[in-house]
Amino acid sequence: MISEQEYSVKLAEVRSYLVERVTVLPELGVILGSGLGAFADLVEEKVMIAYKDIPHFPTSTVEGHAGQLVFGKVQGRSVVVMQGRFHYYEGYTMQEVTFPIRVMQVLGVTGLIVTNAAGGINSAFQAGNLVLIKDHLNLMGDNPLRGANLANLGPRFPDLSEGYNLEWRQKAIEIAKELGINPQEGVYVAVSGPNYETPAEIRYLRTIGADMVGMSTVPEVIAANHGGMRVLGISCVTNMAAGILPQKLNHAEVMETAERVGKQFVSFVQALVRAL
Ligand code: HPA
Repeated sequence: MISEQEYSVKLAEVRSYLVERVTVLPELGVILGSGLGAFADLVEEKVMIAYKDIPHFPTSTVEGHAGQLVFGKVQGRSVVVMQGRFHYYEGYTMQEVTFPIRVMQVLGVTGLIVTNAAGGINSAFQAGNLVLIKDHLNLMGDNPLRGANLANLGPRFPDLSEGYNLEWRQKAIEIAKELGINPQEGVYVAVSGPNYETPAEIRYLRTIGADMVGMSTVPEVIAANHGGMRVLGISCVTNMAAGILPQKLNHAEVMETAERVGKQFVSFVQALVRAL
């Protein structure tokens, strides 16, 4: 774990690197999950900066993720889009996974839209559904806020009783209806992965109140809340979780579903950027 001071110095260095290259500083952050990469094409007056070129940034390894920050305008709003995220299962520390959120914070971002691919646990869901995250369970066994608290970034014991902003969720439901998307809501549970869960684990996760399961999002959402951001989270149910249907799970199915609903997902996020 890196020291408090080291982390602050790194953040300040990244901030000045980005401020020199970006014309308008972002107000809203967007994290693109699997299949949503095309959202980046909508960004106007684009400045793209590869993670590998940003000082102190981890680099992305997962298939289907480009690994860059895209700055610019969507629907007149100044945004920073993360095309590709860092997963805990890749071996990054929680501080590394959430480093981009801290970078957003020091650039002045006050709101975050976070998306992901997830396995459906609630049997009312189907592969291809877009589900608004109303709350989460952190079962990753780690926390990005562990260690010395960076008091200039947020409080030691942050409140998470509205980790996913209620007003934004209500607006998102209205927007979904306008777009003909059946608006669902659910509790997202984050596990560390990288294996998909066992059927017994899925029965357990359902019992403790989870509607969908995934391997991301929760660290970023914890850091964003700590940093005082409003958060909206959306899961694309790419598959039903293990043991729910009499079939095996594979990454190809996850990517295919994400691809299939990609267009609808992109329009939804575009409309959200305008409205939130
Ligand atoms: N489990 C965990 N993470 C996932 C899944 C799943 O079934 N589908 C997509 N991401």
